[in-house]
Amino acid sequence: MDNRRIIVKIPASTANLGPGFDTLGMALSLYAWIDMSIADEETEIELLGNGMESIPRDKSNLLYKVAQLVFKEAGLPEQELNIAMYSDIPLTRGLGSSASAIVGALVAANALAGFPLTEQQLFTIATRLEGHPDNVGASLFGGIIVAAWDGDRVDHIRLEPPAGIDMLVAIPDFHLATEKARHALPQQYSKQDAVYNISHSSLLVAALASGRIDLIRYAMKDRVHEPYRAALIPGMSQILRDAGEHGAISTALSGAGPTLLALIESDSQRKDELERFLLDTLGNEGVEAKSVWLKPCLTGPELQWLDGPTGEISLMEWIKGEVKA
Ligand code: HSE
Repeated sequence: MDNRRIIVKIPASTANLGPGFDTLGMALSLYAWIDMSIADEETEIELLGNGMESIPRDKSNLLYKVAQLVFKEAGLPEQELNIAMYSDIPLTRGLGSSASAIVGALVAANALAGFPLTEQQLFTIATRLEGHPDNVGASLFGGIIVAAWDGDRVDHIRLEPPAGIDMLVAIPDFHLATEKARHALPQQYSKQDAVYNISHSSLLVAALASGRIDLIRYAMKDRVHEPYRAALIPGMSQILRDAGEHGAISTALSGAGPTLLALIESDSQRKDELERFLLDTLGNEGVEAKSVWLKPCLTGPELQWLDGPTGEISLMEWIKGEVKA
């Protein structure tokens, strides 16, 4: 085991990108940091940032459990750990906070153990834990990922996000558990809807892979999850229908929601108009929301080792200047 301290910076993600339900994901320029080292004595867990109050700090903590999975897989005994985490990624809003936590804990523990597991092994463990590969894949590989999971094996291709496109996310001020948003979906779909999604998701991937940005607005349309989840998010249907009239290239529900994602050209003169439209539409439905401008994040986790004099510095001290809060 490495006795140094590792800090891993992990991007948030937006899943589905419209029609690519449980398949497509994109990493975003919003981050969480996990600080991990082998403890001299007992495990200590510190969680910083909004919404962390109710998360356990004992060995039932997800970060601790995920790290132990890596040690077990590598044939190592359970380790007492010092863990600290700070996250700018809001919880249960559809921006992949749990995926970032899982990926961060896997990558940090793998580093402490001397990198026994491959990225593919980490991806498989992360997908199994999350139940779908889209968010964890984006956080692990950066950029846009196209992934297929058959319950056993997970494959992916990473695509470079198109240049010159910015993302606006409108984050409603309420939580929506992925579990609940998945329960809103039907058990069966008509052949028309299945064909609709296969064709739009395929077209979206082909458009992204070949630089046909002009096709994104036609391809980013979904009939598998967005129509059913719209009932859980007042204002969503109107935003998906009308944001194009306010400068957006396209819009989608981010993951399981409730965050809404809008794409717009980076040099568009209509960014303020689009932002107002999203916030006013939600506001008119009584939904308070916060808007954040983001870019695709092109890389996966960034690792930094701390030892010697830097070994004593607190996580917040180390990342200040980088955090949003
Ligand atoms: N693909 C998943 C869903 C993402 O839409 O339920 C959850 O973040």
